[in-house]
This record gives sequence, structure tokens and C-alpha cells, in this order.
Amino acid sequence: MTPAAPPPAGGVRHLYLHLPFCAARCGYCAFVVEVGREEVRDAYLDALLAELAQEGGRLGPLETVYLGGGTPTLMGAGRLTRLLEALAPRLAGGAEVTVEANPETVDRTLARALVAAGVTRVSLGAQSFQPHLLAALDRRATPARVRAAAGLLREAGVGRLSLDLIQAVPGQTMADLERDIAEVGAIGPDHVSWYELEVKPGSALAARGAVVDPDLAEDAYLRVVDALEDMGYRWYELANFARDGARCRHSLAYWTARDYLGLGVGAVSTVAGTRWRNAPGVDRYVAALAAGRRPPRTREPLAPATRRRERWMLATRLDEPLDLGWAGPPDHPEAVPRLAGLGLVEAGAGTLTLTRRGRLLQNAVVQELMDFST
Ligand SMILES: C[S@@+](CC[C@H](N)C(=O)[O-])C[C@H]1O[C@@H](n2cnc3c(N)ncnc32)[C@H](O)[C@@H]1O
Ligand code: SF4
Repeated sequence: MTPAAPPPAGGVRHLYLHLPFCAARCGYCAFVVEVGREEVRDAYLDALLAELAQEGGRLGPLETVYLGGGTPTLMGAGRLTRLLEALAPRLAGGAEVTVEANPETVDRTLARALVAAGVTRVSLGAQSFQPHLLAALDRRATPARVRAAAGLLREAGVGRLSLDLIQAVPGQTMADLERDIAEVGAIGPDHVSWYELEVKPGSALAARGAVVDPDLAEDAYLRVVDALEDMGYRWYELANFARDGARCRHSLAYWTARDYLGLGVGAVSTVAGTRWRNAPGVDRYVAALAAGRRPPRTREPLAPATRRRERWMLATRLDEPLDLGWAGPPDHPEAVPRLAGLGLVEAGAGTLTLTRRGRLLQNAVVQELMDFST
């Protein structure tokens, strides 16, 4: 049954909607995805709107909405417009509305429809501009298609364009990375997410025995940070870079541990100290909502210590001082002077800031300060 936790005062301000359909599964991907099954899209949209109606009482005026996937753009312009029209009355003024887009699905009609339906931000999955790396990742778009999609979205008037890229792909050289950096420079997006490849258990890459070379990953990361900063981007989160005023407000809500509601298969919600996760499986999801029931889900109350540790792990990803009044004290305060002596953190009045070096080692630094074993 549904979590009984009351909504926070004023309601939840951040909404994620999961659109799971993909034409094929990419070699690295472990997200909740339905390959093919396009005939279920209408029923899925009905179910998503039914879940929105069920959970709508938890929502306040929405500051951010994020349509993620899967491949949201595989829903097509008509269904996305229907969904965005249903959300429109719930938006606060100036809300950020993001849609993830796969390049091969973007044409002029879709780009214009997104803008007309109120989308303010598109996150385009480029991953790389090198044909051999796109092939290694099982991507369907050619480099030309990625460039064309960016152009069509710009031309349609999308307010903010973000590009996703992946580094440390098997077979990648530093020369490949330089070419990808140059492509990003030529497109000039407002925002860039540049992730290190994670070989997920169960993925096709894992089955092929792919491994990430840690030396390449480190060199590539340092080079990406330097290059994007030189281009004028702010390295505002470990893997995210933004031009002035173009940080992703939805992701910032996650990194600052705000409450959010997630709708759709596999979607996660965290509201008033409880986390719940809808089960994967479109058919069960659609059947439950069609019968007026809540979707199958698991529910986990978050202990105060868990929430405190999450705040530490998430908010230290940002380039801002951690407010200890908000995050709570470290589990191991004795580690602070040691880490400060190593040049990894700086202690202020009621704050702790990771230095540039500390940010490059963020996970290890936070593990020294917080106890994640319980
Ligand atoms: C929800 S995913 C996919 C969005 C969209 N369907 C696409 O393929 O572009 C968002 C981003 O996460 C990144 N990502 C997903 N799996 C990853 C992995 N195993 N390692 C590194 N980055 C990954 C990719 O850059 C991807 O664009
Ligand atoms: S990376 Fe994107 S397109 Fe590829 S399978 Fe995952 S969600 Fe689908």
C-alpha cells in the first residue's frame, strides 16, 4: 500500500516522470527500460496520468519537472504534449521542465512540439562523437545525427541545452577525448554532464568483459574539468558543468536532499523521511493503475542517521561549502584536522568545504568523515 507519510508543508516541489521505452538497450545501460513494446505507450501514459492523480495531493507548485528514461522522446510529440499539458497547471512560475532526448529521435516537429508544450531544458544523450566509441557503447546515433539534433533543438528555441557524455570507454584515447571536447566547444551547450563509464553488472558491456582503465579515467576526468572550465563552464557538481545560471535545478534538488516525487515504473520518491520505489515491469504497472490500484512498490523509512549521511554524500558533490547546521555533524570529527592537513577540506564557521583536490577524491573523503557501515 501507499506510504502513509504526510506531505511536507507546502507540498513536494520536484517531480520526476519515468518514460521507459527504448528502441534497443545500450551496452552500458542498467536503467529500468522496456525495449520495443511501443504498442503499450498509450496505456502507459494513461497509467502515468492515473498515478499523478493518485499522488497529486502530495505536490505543491512544481519548481522542477524532469521527464527521464528510457527514451522519453520515443513517446512521440503527441503523447509528450498530452503529458506536459496535464502537468502545466501544477507548475510554479519560472519552473524548469527538462526532457531527456536521444539524438536519433529528434526531428524538427518534435523539437518544436517540446518548446510549444513548455519544455525549458533538453538533455541530449550524445555520449561521444567518435564513431568507434559510439559503436562500443551500442549507440544508434551517428556523430552527424548528434550534431543535427543539437542544432534542431537550438533552432526550435529550447531555452537550455545540455549534453551527456561518457569518458573512459574501452578503446578511448586521450586524442579521442580532445576531439569530443572540441565538439562540445563547437556546439556550446548551456550545460554538460560528463560521466565516467560504469560497467554495470548484467549489462552487455559487462558480459563482454569490458573494464574501465582507472588511469585513463583519472586523466580524462582532470582534462575534462580543465577544458570545460577554460571554456567558461562552472564545475558545479562532480560530473556536471554549467554556464552562468544554467545549473540543473532538478538535479540540485537531489543533491541538496530535497523531497521529490517519482512517477512511473522504477521511479523513486523520497517524501517526508520515507523512500519508495515503484517496481519495474510496465505490464504490472499498467494493470495496477488501470484497476485503480497503486503500482507495486517497496517502501523504506529513512532513519535520521541515514538521511544525515545521504546529505553529506550528496551535497559534498557540489562546489559549495557544506552547511553543518543543515547536514549535521560528521560521524568522525577527528578526521577533519587530518583531512585539512592533507589539503582536502577546509573547515569554516559551521561549514566544511572540499578543496579542489578534495573534490577529486570526494567519495574517499566522505568515507573518512561518515560511517556508512550501519
Ligand atoms: C537516463 S540515462 C539515458 C538517457 C537517454 N535515454 C540517452 O540514452 O541519452 C542518462 C545518462 O546517464 C549516463 N549513463 C547511463 N548509464 C551509464 C553508465 N553505465 N556509465 C556512465 N554513464 C551512464 C549517460 O550519459 C546517459 O545519457
Ligand atoms: S542509455 Fe538511454 S537509450 Fe540506451 S538503453 Fe539506456 S535509457 Fe535507453
